[in-house]
Formats: sequence, structure tokens, C-alpha cells
Amino acid sequence: MLPFRARPLRLIHRAKPVRTQYRRNGSLPPTPQRNVVGVFSPASAVLFIAVGTGMFFYFKNKKQQLLEEREKERMSKSYGRPNLGGPFSLINCSAAPSDPLPTFTDKDMLGKWSLVYFGFTNCPDICPAELDKVTAIVNDLNKTNPNLAVQPIFISVDPARDTPQTVRKYLSDFHPSYIGLVGDYAQTKAVCKGYRVYFSTPPDADPNGDYLVDHSIFVYLMDPEGKFVDAFGQATTKDEVVEKIQQYVEEWRR
Ligand SMILES: *[C@@H]1O[C@H](CO)[C@@H](O)[C@H](O)[C@H]1NC(C)=O
Ligand SMILES: *[C@@H]1O[C@H](CO)[C@@H](O)[C@H](O)[C@H]1NC(C)=O
Repeated sequence: MLPFRARPLRLIHRAKPVRTQYRRNGSLPPTPQRNVVGVFSPASAVLFIAVGTGMFFYFKNKKQQLLEEREKERMSKSYGRPNLGGPFSLINCSAAPSDPLPTFTDKDMLGKWSLVYFGFTNCPDICPAELDKVTAIVNDLNKTNPNLAVQPIFISVDPARDTPQTVRKYLSDFHPSYIGLVGDYAQTKAVCKGYRVYFSTPPDADPNGDYLVDHSIFVYLMDPEGKFVDAFGQATTKDEVVEKIQQYVEEWRR
């Protein structure tokens, strides 16, 4: 159940007397219909819409939070928190250009806290919003904990269309320390499986074709030993994530 009980919306609004001055055919002016005029006056209509919109977004956010909590419970129940992540081997798109580009594996995450996000460069608005959030989180943490240097990592779930060049260019809009990773279909599938990321790119996708890329939207926090710590969904705000990471770092140091 929602921890919030909706009260019936009460619009307390006095009807202003309507002064209709005209007379038609000598008849009496129509009696003003107080109730109708009162409730639907422009001011109360605006209030009604504002309150309604506010409640709509409040509940939408609550619902999203609940769904994410449930998804996290499901993840930890069926797989156990410590096992999330695991070995992977991908191409480091952010490395200085070379041929071939260096391989980046789970071992390269050791020694640093990292925030891992799975997405794709054609993602219309969710990925940029999440990558902006991660950028702000890393910047905030750099201010409060300058020695922490949390590593942001982007893993593409669209191996057919995302080349190292497109990922590198895409990430240049976000935090400069971002590391972008791509792999072939099998490597991508393996890393998604390790992180329990649902991914729908077909194995034989035509890069110029039209296909759906669906993926889970979580930012995964991994500790300096490469172990999974927490996953933050869209409904968790930047400030909440920053605060949680600071707590985890404190706990980890002890
Ligand atoms: C990946 O690229 C980044 C950015 O240039 C670099 O700092 C990092 O050392 C590279 N890691 C590996 C394993 O290639
Ligand atoms: C942290 O901030 C300092 C000063 O603004 C900057 O030089 C440094 O590169 C930043 N580090 C990271 C990891 O963003």
C-alpha cells in the first residue's frame, strides 16, 4: 500500500455574485448559478489542475520507486547481492586511439569505486538524463570527497550500432573521466547476464535497421574489490545517491 492516503480534494471557493446587467425582451436577468460559476472560475480551475498535476507526478514517482524496490528485491533474492557483476571483457572506447583498442575487463575496475550504467547511444532521453545524473554525482563527490575519484563506466547494450568511435563521441558530452565499453554480441550478452541487465537487442540486428533496444535502467555501484554494492534507479535523486555512496564508503573504510 502507498504510505500516503489521498484526502478528498476540497475546493473551498466562494461564488461571486454574477451581475448580468442586460435584459432581453424585457425579461428578468437569469439567476446566477452560484455553484457552477464558483467551482469553475478560472482561479479554481488553475488550482484544480495544479493540485491534480502535482498528485499525478507524486504518485507516478512513488509507483516508480516501489517498482524499483521490487526489482531490486527480486535481483537480490534470486541471485544474491554479492554475485552481481562478475567477469567480462570488452573494448575500451575511451582509451587513446590505437589499433586495436585495449581490452577492459572487470579486473580493471579494481582499486576504485565505480558507477556502471548500461545504455546505448541512440537512446532518446533516458540515457542522457541518467548519464547527466552520474556526471553530477561524480562532480559532487569530487567536491566532498576529493580523494575518492569514483569511476563512471558506460556499457553499450547495442553492439550492432555502437562502435567505439560513436560511444567515445557520445560520452564527450558527459563527465570527462567516463570510460565507454563495447563488445560483440556474445560479450555484451555475457556482461548483461552478469549484471542481471535485461537486454533485447537481437543477435543478428542490422545496424541500419529498425529494432527495439530495451534495457534495465539502473546505475550500479561497485566497490574497489569489484563487488556489487547497490543499484540506483531513475527515481533515486542525485542527492540521495551521493548521500548513499558517502555512507557506503564510510562503512567500507571501517
Ligand atoms: C581505458 O581508457 C581510459 C581513458 O583513456 C584510461 O584511463 C584507462 O586506463 C583505460 N583502461 C584500460 C584497461 O585500457
Ligand atoms: C576533481 O576536481 C578537481 C578540481 O576541480 C579536478 O582537477 C579533478 O580533475 C576532479 N577529479 C575528478 C575525478 O573529476
